[in-house]
Amino acid sequence: MTQQQRTPLTRHRARVDAGVEYRPFPNDMGRNSRQRHLEIPLFTRLLSIPRGARILEVGCGRGVALPVMYELLQPARLVGLDIDAALLAEAAETVARLEVELVCADVRELPFADASFDVVIDFGTC
Ligand SMILES: C[S@@+](CC[C@H](N)C(=O)[O-])C[C@H]1O[C@@H](n2cnc3c(N)ncnc32)[C@H](O)[C@@H]1O
Repeated sequence: MTQQQRTPLTRHRARVDAGVEYRPFPNDMGRNSRQRHLEIPLFTRLLSIPRGARILEVGCGRGVALPVMYELLQPARLVGLDIDAALLAEAAETVARLEVELVCADVRELPFADASFDVVIDFGTC
């Protein structure tokens, strides 16, 4: 099975030139580690995010948070959405062995039906 089959990347037309409107976080190992070990566990506790929920992370970028949420929350559905296809390609590597969907789309035009998710998380899209 190829990686693409395991982690399909769905693309939707993005309305904006992503490079003009935002600056992604640098791929800083210290920051990634703090997010992995501190920020995400703290957030999930403080927000009392239930296990088994349908979770959408908007602006998932390189997907640093996705494996942590997958492990801690055992979601029924976990989707990472980002406008930047290059960052999502990195995310695909990060979640290759997990049941995580990656979607390339603009958060202002979400390609999901109403009530598709129980929790929507944004760790910073701007
Ligand atoms: C500052 S980075 C944060 C990435 C990740 N959440 C993290 O904490 O490491 C912001 C992310 O939001 C995404 N983003 C910015 N504008 C967006 C939009 N209109 N729709 C979807 N994603 C967007 C960027 O591509 C980028 O990956």
